[in-house]
Amino acid sequence: MYLKKLELINFRNYSKLNLNFSKGVILVVGDNGQGKTNLLESIYYLSTGKSHRSYNHSELIKWEKDFSILRAEVSSESAKKIEHLIEIELKENNIKIRVDKAYRKRKSEFISILPSVIFSPDDLRIIKSGPSNRRNFIDSILDQIHNDFYRIRLQYQKILNQRNSLIKSISSSMKIADNRTLESWDDNIVKYGTKIIEKRYQFIQEIRKDFIRYMKFFFDKANVDIFYVFSWNRKSFRGSYDDGSFDYTGSNLGNIIGSKEEIDSFGTKLKENLKRDLSFKTTTIGPHRDDFAILIDGKDIRSFGSQGQQRVASISLKLCELNILKEKLKTDPVFLLDDVLSELDLERKKLLIKVINNNLQTFITTTNINYLSDININFTQKFSVKDNKIEKID
Ligand SMILES: Nc1ncnc2c1ncn2[C@@H]1O[C@H](COP(=O)(O)OP(=O)(O)OP(=O)(O)O)[C@@H](O)[C@H]1O
Ligand SMILES: [Mg+2]
Repeated sequence: MYLKKLELINFRNYSKLNLNFSKGVILVVGDNGQGKTNLLESIYYLSTGKSHRSYNHSELIKWEKDFSILRAEVSSESAKKIEHLIEIELKENNIKIRVDKAYRKRKSEFISILPSVIFSPDDLRIIKSGPSNRRNFIDSILDQIHNDFYRIRLQYQKILNQRNSLIKSISSSMKIADNRTLESWDDNIVKYGTKIIEKRYQFIQEIRKDFIRYMKFFFDKANVDIFYVFSWNRKSFRGSYDDGSFDYTGSNLGNIIGSKEEIDSFGTKLKENLKRDLSFKTTTIGPHRDDFAILIDGKDIRSFGSQGQQRVASISLKLCELNILKEKLKTDPVFLLDDVLSELDLERKKLLIKVINNNLQTFITTTNINYLSDININFTQKFSVKDNKIEKID
């Protein structure tokens, strides 16, 4: 799918915007604070029903206004042409979504129409920051490709909260075996938790080859690996970051590269850790504590990777995301690259442009057209953003 027409009313800094887009690679150039990210955000919102940088939809409504409208005409490239109209109306307390004039109650009913992947410099946090960023990265993709994943996650979170309250109320001197309630929570924790771990583990397995290939493409000498880390294996590492997460470099690496079979031991691990849970007054084992690790030449990229390597690793993850959405949803996603070119050296810039498949509609923003002067790229359209307006340029 590609975005053919975009209409915005009162979205962020735009009062009214009407743009027609072509396929291929589209350049958006403008100074700081002119509305480049806002434009990509609107496309991402039409695609996923959420913003990549704000949890509160009312922030998207233009200041002083009480509603916002986003409209997208999307079209497939295939011979059998499919077209859709996605419309979203945002008000302080409510969001209405229509696809081809019919109201959709759930996000899951429309998020696969115009899939998209957004990359912004903030995404470096997937690599650099705590494990919750990495879990969120996987979960937001799985939410899109498995209908019930979001529901399972909510269910798990609910049971986990209940288990944690119960654990807080049990005094550690109490006889554990007497506590039937805890056991029944645990059955459900294991039931829903296992589904989450399985899907996430499988996801990392699926992208592993692609990820290694991309990293090799950008850094041909680097020896890279990526693997899922189960919560029970993270325990053997001493925390080395403020956020309580770990540096996975170490001689006992073999102990943290878990196998698929290990997922079945979740229930046993949960039981074994009950004493620890009671003393920490929280559930220390489960998918809410899982992580994934990226090693470069055997060392954790978080501690030992250069800025550029970390940046390229986050871009590579996004490229994997593109591939997996394309494969699972059987439609071409739109690629939104916000301010990525200024961050890379010339060689890496050229390589990234090479990877960007001309068949995918790709939006690239930049503050300075000179960042692109030394790379050979055929833009199908160019736009300039200034004073809350967007104009087509030659
Ligand atoms: N709800 C809103 N209503 C009106 N204006 C807003 C709203 N939210 C953000 N803005 C304004 O939109 C402007 C453009 O923001 P945006 O992040 O898109 O800029 P940008 O072109 O990406 O800049 P940079 O190059 O610095 O990343 C900002 O000046 C911001 O103050
Ligand atoms: Mg920006």
